[in-house]
Amino acid sequence: ASGFAPKITSFQEGTWAYITARDRWPKIVGKLVDHIHCSRRRFMEEYGSEADADVKNVIHALSETRYRMMTDKPLEDLKDEYYVDIGVYNKLVQDKRKENEPLLTWYKSEWLFVECYLYRLIYGAFHQQKHLSKYDYFGEQKRDSFKEHLRHIEESAKFTLEASTSNDVPFSFYLFLIFQSSLWGNQSDLSVSGGDASTVKHSLLEAARARDSYILQNDVEKAIKEIILPLKERPASHHRIDIILDNAGVELSMDLFLADFLVHSGLVNNVILHGKKFPWFVSDVTSVDFEWTLQQMENDEGDLKTFHERFQEKLKSGKIAYTSHDFWTYPHAFCDMKEAAPDLYEELAKSNLLIFKGDLNYRKLVGDRYWPWNYSFEKSLCSFLPTSLLTLRTLKAETVSGLSAEAVERMKREFGEDTKWLTSGDFAVAQLVKI
Ligand code: F6P
Ligand code: MG
Repeated sequence: ASGFAPKITSFQEGTWAYITARDRWPKIVGKLVDHIHCSRRRFMEEYGSEADADVKNVIHALSETRYRMMTDKPLEDLKDEYYVDIGVYNKLVQDKRKENEPLLTWYKSEWLFVECYLYRLIYGAFHQQKHLSKYDYFGEQKRDSFKEHLRHIEESAKFTLEASTSNDVPFSFYLFLIFQSSLWGNQSDLSVSGGDASTVKHSLLEAARARDSYILQNDVEKAIKEIILPLKERPASHHRIDIILDNAGVELSMDLFLADFLVHSGLVNNVILHGKKFPWFVSDVTSVDFEWTLQQMENDEGDLKTFHERFQEKLKSGKIAYTSHDFWTYPHAFCDMKEAAPDLYEELAKSNLLIFKGDLNYRKLVGDRYWPWNYSFEKSLCSFLPTSLLTLRTLKAETVSGLSAEAVERMKREFGEDTKWLTSGDFAVAQLVKI
């Protein structure tokens, strides 16, 4: 019966999905309107007086969106025809409308779908404009987040460099800490913090060492022992790991250290990094963020510069590559990937391990459903398993599966009826499914 666990909607008062629709979305859109309003003079200096019309159009479109979500109006078809995915979105809107009329509203539709639709709607508002079509409206927040966490990033760069040359401590131990730094980097998401750029208060290395008891299911060691280390025994084959990225700034930096360290170890020939094609869920990585981050590292004086040099070599030789696919900004759960993006599915199937970063990727893995918390994680993927996969996620949404009975017991003991542990970002999971 759990195969039919209900999908999350924003309808039920008091849930995180409800609070997201009532408070977080209007705040994110409002902040954007404010940002564009305040940037008007700068746009006009850059693009001339024509930019004024762009600014007005964007503010008008975003204000309308904000009004419609706040008054729980029905979802409309997307109207901008400037991006290839429009058909994908509108087919879903139309299909869902047929099924659910008159319930296809901002609060009553599936949460995952509406949230993706919102970020696609925002993109459309800009993309239709003459001068602002390529503008990254979340760029400033993402760049601030990198700068705010610079000392943590530098510390982890130093650690990665030392780990590559040290013979004192086993390689797997270093790898374990670098993995866990990447996991805790996911606390940095800007859509929860409402734009507060300094979301990660502690050093990532410190977190990697000291926050074990906050990881409710931890398969990192298992992934290292059972997937990564055994690659050594098959030296003739071509080994590849894919990281499906989440947020820019401190999280991306930790992911770059992980990618680099995996290739540097010689166990893995290739790491492919997957980003988004356009600004997404405020802080997600686009190609511009990727380039910008590397540029920042290059401009640094110390360990980051050294790290940048060796990372750059791997990029040049193709050992590390950055790519993006339209599917990552579709609203689908991953169990629909085979049908909606068969080319991507086939590509991922070539990998030895897929590492999915972050909360949104997790929601898409498990279809954003209310699974019983101790339900099998593998079963909640609903057959999505192109190859082995590991999810590294701090919990920021009311969906989780695969927890042990003890972990569930503990959360009930510590929090009672209160489910804030599911959404605070304080707790994490690292869950592996092997093919
Ligand atoms: O708003 C939905 C949500 O999944 C949150 O729960 C989370 O804060 C955010 O979006 C994205 O988080 P992440 O960057 O970890 O995917
Ligand atoms: Mg994100």
